[in-house]
Amino acid sequence: MTNQGFLPFQDLTGCHKALYTMTLLILGVAYLFAMIQTFSVHASRDGNVGLSPNDLVLAYSGSTDATRLEAAIKGPMSGMLHKEDAEEIVLWIQGGAEEGRYQDKVVPIMEDHCFNCHGDNEASRAAYPHNPILQGYSNVMKMVEIDTGADILTLVRVSHIHLFGMTFIFFIVGGIFLHANVQPACMKCIILITPFIAIMLDIFSWYLTKLYPPFAWIIYLSGVFMALSFTAQWVLSMYQMWFYRLPRDNIGGGE
Ligand code: HEC
Repeated sequence: MTNQGFLPFQDLTGCHKALYTMTLLILGVAYLFAMIQTFSVHASRDGNVGLSPNDLVLAYSGSTDATRLEAAIKGPMSGMLHKEDAEEIVLWIQGGAEEGRYQDKVVPIMEDHCFNCHGDNEASRAAYPHNPILQGYSNVMKMVEIDTGADILTLVRVSHIHLFGMTFIFFIVGGIFLHANVQPACMKCIILITPFIAIMLDIFSWYLTKLYPPFAWIIYLSGVFMALSFTAQWVLSMYQMWFYRLPRDNIGGGE
C-alpha cells in the first residue's frame, strides 16, 4: 500500500488488471456502437450531414412543418428507400395526402420497402408489435399528422433504460479510474462526476426541449462531455495500468 490516498494501478494484482482491461475493452466497443446508433437515428433529420442540435430539436420537440412519416423517411428510415421513392412519398404528404394517390403511388413503394415491418398482417405485428402500421389509409394517416417529436411514453421508457444503464457503466469505469494518478486530485474528481451530471441534464433536457427547443443544446453538450469523460477515463486507465509507474517521490511533497 502507498500513502497517496488511493491504490495505484501498479499495486493491483495481474488478475485485477486483466479483469479491468477486458471490461474496458468491451465497454469501449459498446460505446462505439452506442455512438453509431445515436448517429444513425438522429443525424441528418434536418437535411444536413452530421449530428447537430437542430436534429435533436426535430427528434424531441418535432417540427411545425413535418409529419412523423416525413420525419422518419428523412431520418431513421432513410436507409430503407431510394431517393426517388422517398420524394414520391414526401410529395404525396405535402400535396394533401389523398387516399387515391396513396393507393396508386405510395402503397406499391411501401409494399416493397416498409410493410415487412409496418404492415397490417400477423407476421409484421409479431415481429414489430410497437411499430406504427402504415398499411391501410386510416392507419397511415395517424403518421401524417403534424410531428410533435418523440412521445412522452417513449421518452419515459428510454429515460429509465438510460439512467440505469449509464449509471452502471460510469460506476464501473469510474471504479477502475479511481486507481489512476491524476494531478491535481480535484481534476480526477471532476472527470469522475461529469458523466453523472451530464446524464441527468441530458435526460431532463429531452422533456424540456419539447417546451423550449434551445434545450437541445444541453442534450448535445452533455453528450459531448460524457464522451470526453469516458475517453479520458478509458485512455488514462489503460495507459497507467500497463505502461506507467507512479513517480512516488513527487507526490505529497516526497518522502
Ligand atoms: C426492418 C424493419 C423496418 C423497415 C423495413 C421499415 N421500418 Fe420503420 N421502423 C422500424 C422500427 C423498429 C421502428 C421503431 C424505431 C424506434 O422506436 O426507435 C420504426 C419506426 C418508424 C416510424 C415511426 C417513427 C416515430 O416517429 O416514432 C415511421 C413513421 C416509420 N418507421 C416509417 C417507415 C417507412 C416509411 C418505411 C419504408 C420506407 C419503414 N419505416 C421501413 C422498422 C422498420
